[in-house]
Amino acid sequence: MIDTHTHLNDPKFEQDLDEVIQRAKSSGVDRMIVCGYDIPSSRAAVEIARKHEGVFATVGVHPHEAATFSADTLRMLRELAQEPRVVAVGETGLDFYYSFSPWPQQEKAFAHQIELALELDLPIVVHSRLAGRAVLEIIDRYQPTPTGVFHCFSESKEIAQTVTAKGFFIGIDGPITFKPKKQGTSTSSGRCELQEIVRIVPLTNIVVETDCPYLTPVPYRGRRNEPAYLVYIVEELARTLGRTIEEIDRITSENAERLFPRMIEPPG
Ligand code: NI
Repeated sequence: MIDTHTHLNDPKFEQDLDEVIQRAKSSGVDRMIVCGYDIPSSRAAVEIARKHEGVFATVGVHPHEAATFSADTLRMLRELAQEPRVVAVGETGLDFYYSFSPWPQQEKAFAHQIELALELDLPIVVHSRLAGRAVLEIIDRYQPTPTGVFHCFSESKEIAQTVTAKGFFIGIDGPITFKPKKQGTSTSSGRCELQEIVRIVPLTNIVVETDCPYLTPVPYRGRRNEPAYLVYIVEELARTLGRTIEEIDRITSENAERLFPRMIEPPG
């Protein structure tokens, strides 16, 4: 299995990172991607990837941190993106749910990171929360269309169909294992809607991820999440689609390799 989105660079893993990576590998997660969310965490992601077999990095500035994005940030990202084992730019995008950074700054930081990804021929890791339309509007400004993933997909069915038709992947996480909420109590896609989404988009556009330390799947919900728990997401996806776990593992792993070509072929 490939955990396509982790934050092993989060301070919550500082004490036992080696054990966490070891447990992941013992559970069948042989590759994982550590995603940056600002400059220090991007640098940490590159460092972790350098030290651990099967671990890769992405470098980017999360929409929550977009207010800090400057010309200097872009220069540092460009440098970091050319380090070995960096497979994408991100996570970047728009978050209109929390809106921790003003919208114009989020849009500006996102546009700069798309341009950087196109310049370096890398995919983008998109964070989109209640912002699907605005994210698409920005992506549509670029020719050729960037490649990438809408990680931790929480937008509508309609957005899922639109983004996969453009060739984007969607990332499925722990919420697919959560108990259904009462109708109308959730602002983002809960389990029921996610289960419908994975049935209507092509399976060739789905990748799996933990987004650890967040969004821990059942049966460990409430604890710190880690890549070893990816198996619960793969199992639930297999159950939902009426496929075997082996099939889902094989197909989503092939998808991850198409999404992140540098995972198999380093540049140059
Ligand atoms: Ni993330």
